[in-house]
Amino acid sequence: MDGNGRWAKARGKPRTFGHSAGVEALRRTVEAAGDIKLPYLTVFGFSTENWGRPKEEVAALLELLRLYVGRDLHRLVRDGVKVRVIGEREGLEPDIRAIIERAEDQTAANATLNLTIAFNYGAQDEIVRAVRRIADDIAAGRLTPDDVCADTFAQRLDTACLPPLDLLIRTSGERRLSNFMLWQAAYAELVFLEDLWPDFGREPLERAINEFRRRDRRYGGVGRDE
Ligand code: FPP
Repeated sequence: MDGNGRWAKARGKPRTFGHSAGVEALRRTVEAAGDIKLPYLTVFGFSTENWGRPKEEVAALLELLRLYVGRDLHRLVRDGVKVRVIGEREGLEPDIRAIIERAEDQTAANATLNLTIAFNYGAQDEIVRAVRRIADDIAAGRLTPDDVCADTFAQRLDTACLPPLDLLIRTSGERRLSNFMLWQAAYAELVFLEDLWPDFGREPLERAINEFRRRDRRYGGVGRDE
């Protein structure tokens, strides 16, 4: 959800104003995803590197997570949205952990749209944690080194419960992955949009999906017309 700071700056407002507008964009996007029957939507809400931002901004981002879940959870429950949060939970403030668990528990039985929020998430951190889990399994005799394959590894990532990543949308004109789903992006289609996140919603989402539909996915093989 990139571009909140620039969106605010263009309006002569503090960065946190952009993050608040970013929550509105998240609401619109979740609603649009439900309407167009998208089964899975994952958003990058807070990275393991974002702790390095000024402490007021970090506090504002944590507060926005509290507000989003506090205000929207009943609607997410009602609309059949199943919420999952990926990222490192260790070290998060107890109330933030409790909010995450409440959102996951209250929406656990839902199945219309799977909304995953990456929070305190970094792909390198996720990969290191997966490697540790494999090392623990080997040390405990539950796995042998020969058992380790791409699938064993993927099953230990935070995204084990999600299908392969099809489309990765980066907003705000940046053309990099910024430590998001590095393993999962192996065969994902990348779509880079100039739109800043607070302007995101149904139209840019549909534009990205239409671009995705035009792509020829070869997975290292030959094209569909070959
Ligand atoms: C990146 O824009 C955005 C973030 C670091 C925060 C995204 C968070 C929200 C939209 C709030 C809602 C969050 C949750 C988890 C519900 P940037 O600040 O890097 O923008 P810039 O590149 O223009 O400076």
